[in-house]
Amino acid sequence: MMEEVIRIKGGKRLNGSVTVSGAKNATVALIPAVVLANGPVTLTGVPGIEDVDALSEILGLLKVSVVKKDETHLVFDPTNMENVDLDADVVTKLRASYYFMGALLGKYGKVRMKMPGGCYLGPRPIDLHIKGFEALGADVVYERGCYVIEAKELKGNHIFLDIASVGATINIMMAAVYAKGRTIIENAAKEPEIIDVATLLNKMGAHVRGAGTNVITIDGVNHLNGCFHEIIPDRIEAGTFVVMAACCSDKMEILNVIPKHIESLLLKLEESGVKMDIGVDRVTVYGNQVLKPIEVTTKPYPGFATDLQQPLTALLTQVNGVSRVSDTIYKERFKHCMELQRMGANIEVGDGCCEVHGPTKLYGSKVTATDLRCGASLVIAGLLAEGETEIHDVYHIDRGYDNIDGKLRDLGAMIERGEAEPIRG
Ligand code: EPU
Repeated sequence: MMEEVIRIKGGKRLNGSVTVSGAKNATVALIPAVVLANGPVTLTGVPGIEDVDALSEILGLLKVSVVKKDETHLVFDPTNMENVDLDADVVTKLRASYYFMGALLGKYGKVRMKMPGGCYLGPRPIDLHIKGFEALGADVVYERGCYVIEAKELKGNHIFLDIASVGATINIMMAAVYAKGRTIIENAAKEPEIIDVATLLNKMGAHVRGAGTNVITIDGVNHLNGCFHEIIPDRIEAGTFVVMAACCSDKMEILNVIPKHIESLLLKLEESGVKMDIGVDRVTVYGNQVLKPIEVTTKPYPGFATDLQQPLTALLTQVNGVSRVSDTIYKERFKHCMELQRMGANIEVGDGCCEVHGPTKLYGSKVTATDLRCGASLVIAGLLAEGETEIHDVYHIDRGYDNIDGKLRDLGAMIERGEAEPIRG
């Protein structure tokens, strides 16, 4: 099979408006959560991304029906589902398949599944998820490439997370909704996606309180219904377009944004000199400014999102002076810097940090999206570069960005998909 690539002819200014899709990192938890219901669950605002297709495929294995009413509106019916072993390869395609651990354990008291996959950002252990399941009364073993998690009875417990992990918080919440008694998660993660999952669970009839703070309380219930839920906008996609607008546009309006969710980014960009109007559900960016260098350190929400440091780095190559980015969540999340260097960027990568010396001219090159947000960073660099950029391994980008090339074409970008030139040996 020929490899698909994205080609960008750089240098075009982007103008107009773009609408942000539903949040990937909420959606990838909301879809596994539907197995907890005993009736149909309707989700709207579902982004058109590969992770949704993979999770729908996993639901198919569990005999949960998935009906697409339109592009963003899906109905899931778990009424006739079966708790089969999840040992198919599709489970390893994405990280979020681990949410089936909490959801199936919560509903059936048993789950057997392969190790989840996802972007390589350095080691990504799931020890806190496992500890949480054990605290609720489950036994966890890893045998022949699969986790087997089983509990005679799940009982609420007081759980302290050593790290405020997004995945562990959501997974424990899902495992605890049917548990007997009260579960308290201390040092819970506070990301907006967690509130969205708790909202869905409560619409089903769960008793989850405190999502969005660092203490979440779950009182177990006996039954959960189907429900209707609209997914929150994707704050990382929104942030990616804001960064793009800051360096590649004269005026761009980003619609369907909750500005509070990207406040840390907006404040940093303001500090750098980007002019913006912040509305209730939109951000207008005036991109033609001379920017100052900034220092950014990623932190759990509401701190600066690790997922946005990679797109931001592409912008920093155009800033006058030396900017610094430290990632305290994923110390190895700097592979995009090597790719940006191929395009002419001057970046020194250190231990968990990088220093971007700007401004440097970028030149179109053949580069590789080593992970999802690296892909976004390279798209921005491609828009800025002189000549043509060819991005390989675009499946990483398609896992998490809904129609990124179509949205950019509508803004005036010269971006298209094609087949990679065969390598002549
Ligand atoms: N961690 C542990 N043990 C655990 C779980 C996490 O040590 O059991 C560590 C991680 O290694 C990391 C830190 O805790 O250093 C935070 O990880 P977290 O669990 O919060 O991350 P995640 O749930 O695996 C989600 C997003 C990521 C995003 C991070 C941080 C999903 C599916 N993924 O991952 O999104 O970077 O939170 O905000 O929600 C992306 O969208 O590109 C992406 C990678």
